Amino acid sequence: MDLSNRTALIVGGTSGIGRELARRFAAAGSTVAVGGRSPEALSELAEEGFGTISMDVTDSVSVASARDAALARYPELDTVVTMSGVMLLEDLRDPAHFKRAETTIDTNLLGTIRVIDAFTPHLVRQGVGTFITVTSGIAFLPFPPMPSYAASKAAVHAYSEALRAQLDGTGVGVVELVPPAVATAGQEEVNPHALPLDDFANEVMHLLSQDPTPHEILVKGVLMHRWAERDGTYADLVAQRSQALAMLPSRQG
Ligand SMILES: NC(=O)c1ccc[n+]([C@@H]2O[C@H](COP(=O)([O-])OP(=O)(O)OC[C@H]3O[C@@H](n4cnc5c(N)ncnc54)[C@H](OP(=O)(O)O)[C@@H]3O)[C@@H](O)[C@H]2O)c1
Repeated sequence: MDLSNRTALIVGGTSGIGRELARRFAAAGSTVAVGGRSPEALSELAEEGFGTISMDVTDSVSVASARDAALARYPELDTVVTMSGVMLLEDLRDPAHFKRAETTIDTNLLGTIRVIDAFTPHLVRQGVGTFITVTSGIAFLPFPPMPSYAASKAAVHAYSEALRAQLDGTGVGVVELVPPAVATAGQEEVNPHALPLDDFANEVMHLLSQDPTPHEILVKGVLMHRWAERDGTYADLVAQRSQALAMLPSRQG
């Protein structure tokens, strides 16, 4: 994928992986706008020279007005990244977890669908473009302390596959970015093995440049998750990852 001359909107680009990829896409030569809720982060990014668009992916009205603002400013928009996501722990023995399940599905799955729906007519009309969806190694190998998160990301994987098939022939491609644990959003505190953000972004940019429309972006650190079932390591790895259930408050003390 040539990133030297794209016009990209990174929804969920106000922090972490999205913000780093915004900087990398801009450094490669693309025009980049960033979407998200945080007014402080949006104004910092505006000062850095990014276009900024306020949006909440859990709210269809907000997504539609963000789409209108984005297309008014960038009528040639050709790349939409659905990066917005929350990563919440849930204790399934406590019924109060349901609120977290709702937030997770509403943001990670329905939020992705809302953004894709908002921009599909434009990209199809234009006859050229790319959606970059964002899943996780956890979509392929569950991490038991984050059940709805795993379900949401497995769903976004399945949705991305169907979207790619439905858009076939329109000129609009679908790329699924599958990060392993990356040292953002507090991951570095709970997971000493989380990949440094810079290393992750280097590998992603390299992989993106290798293929005009790669189906999946798989850095080395996520291959063990992505292919666990095929490799016969799935059951052992799920058992190993279940030890992390000790981090749930009800299992402590
Ligand atoms: N870090 C990891 O280990 C890891 C691993 C695999 C997959 N991922 C995925 O990568 C993506 C980015 O994660 P990150 O680590 O960079 O986390 P992060 O720093 O917390 O970034 C999350 C982004 O999502 C946005 N967001 C959350 N709720 C939103 C909403 N309702 N509307 C609009 N934007 C919303 C946030 O922006 P505002 O708060 O400004 O709205 C922020 O820009 C997520 O989809 C995550 O699931 C991360």
